[in-house]
This record gives sequence, structure tokens and C-alpha cells, in this order.
Amino acid sequence: MKDFDQIAHQLRTKDPSEILAWSIKEYGDSITLASSFGAEDVVLIDKLARIRSDIDIFYLDTGLLFPQTYKTRDELARRYNLTFIRVVPRWTVDEQEKEKGAALWKRDPNQCCHIRKVEPLQKVLSHYKAWITGIRREQSPTRAHTQVVEWDDTFSICKLNPLAFWKKEEVWDYIHKNKVPYNPLHDQDYPSIGCIPCTRAVKPGEDPRAGRWSGSAKTECGLHRNRDQK
Ligand code: ADX
Ligand code: SF4
Repeated sequence: MKDFDQIAHQLRTKDPSEILAWSIKEYGDSITLASSFGAEDVVLIDKLARIRSDIDIFYLDTGLLFPQTYKTRDELARRYNLTFIRVVPRWTVDEQEKEKGAALWKRDPNQCCHIRKVEPLQKVLSHYKAWITGIRREQSPTRAHTQVVEWDDTFSICKLNPLAFWKKEEVWDYIHKNKVPYNPLHDQDYPSIGCIPCTRAVKPGEDPRAGRWSGSAKTECGLHRNRDQK
């Protein structure tokens, strides 16, 4: 296996575009970008499109995404002439209700995230050697040790986080300078956007991730586990 700590150390000060270019050189067609069409993901889509427009980009369609998220997907597809790969869970929302009862997200959000996000992610990643994500250190204490390149023990695959060291301001400067389409919910106090039942707007002064699984101790859906959470 590659020495990911050493590579991460070498790449940590590089621009995200250089990290993307390195990963494409290294993994070719065996790399994919995970996008929820949030602010970080639209930056990565723009940067990737400037390097190579045929890298697979997928989104986990939980069936519970905001209409604004689908609209952003369509705008990005038009702007960059891309087709995003739609990855779905084993059950539709109605089927899940029949199997597990109504609003599983209220009773057991971990199980719901497992069925609607983690399991489909596991399946899609089995076709690749590396995945790219938009996580940043600043986003939460659980992401504070994110490396630009690391081995992902959860999915046994290389994980690239080219924006790991970027600050929120750098993300938004990039979006505005390059006129990248973005989810309009970000302008309505939704700094972090997931599924409708588990996402709310944040109040002034609240943590940017306070609107995710609000009222519950849950902070991550299981896509991104750090070493201390194992
Ligand atoms: S989450 O784990 O809390 O949902 P967050 O919304 O912060 O994650 O997004 C972090 C990164 O995870 C995104 O930049 C993207 O790479 C990936 N991601 C999150 N949700 C999805 C999704 N629905 N489909 C594909 N990738 C996603
Ligand atoms: Fe279910 Fe909420 Fe997780 Fe979406 S974020 S998969 S609705 S628990």
C-alpha cells in the first residue's frame, strides 16, 4: 500500500487543483467524486471540469433531498455538460416505510442513514480505487484531522479531500469569482445541506452544522468516520 501519510504531507500545501491532478494521474478512471451539490462540491466540480470532464461524479439520492438540490444538480449538468451518476438506496422512501415504519429518521437516524446513504455508498465505491470528497477540517471537530489524501478504513479505498485545509471564505470566494452555480439554500441560512427531514436553517451565531440532525446527538451520517470514531 502507498505511504498515504507521506503523500499527504507532500501535497498538503498544494492548490486543490494540483491535488485533483495528482489523483487523476495516479488513479485514472478508477476515481470518482462524491457530490451532494453543496458549496464545497460545486468548487470541486468546477475544478475537475477544468482538468478532465469525464471523471465519474455520483450523488446519493436518498429520495429526501431538497428541490433546490435537484435544481442545482441540473444547473451544474448544463453548465459543465456533465451527467451525474444517480445512486439510490435498496428501498424507495415508501418501501422503507412499509419495511421499517414511518419516518425512520425520527426513531433511528443511524439506521436510516445506513440504508439510504452508507449502504449505497459502499456499493458504488466497490467499483473504484479512490474517491474524492468535499470535507474540510474547519467543518467540525470530527473532521479536524482530515488529510488531503488518506486511506479510508471504512470503505477500504483511497480518499482524497482536496479542500481539507480550505476555509469557508476561500470556498465562497472561488464560487463567486468563477460564477459557479450553487444551492440557493446556502443564501437562506443553510450552510450544510442534507436530507429534508434532518436539515434546518441555522440561527445567527450557531455552528454551521447545527442544522444537521438538530435535536439529536448525531453529527455524521457514516460517510466520513475519523480514526477516533472507530
Ligand atoms: S454528511 O456526511 O454530513 O452528509 P456533508 O453534507 O458535510 O456530509 O458533505 C461532505 C461531503 O460528503 C460532500 O462534500 C460530499 O463529498 C459527500 N457527500 C455528502 N452527502 C452526499 C450525497 N448525498 N451524495 C454524494 N456525496 C455526498
Ligand atoms: Fe435518513 Fe436523515 Fe440520514 Fe437522510 S439524513 S438518510 S433522512 S436519517
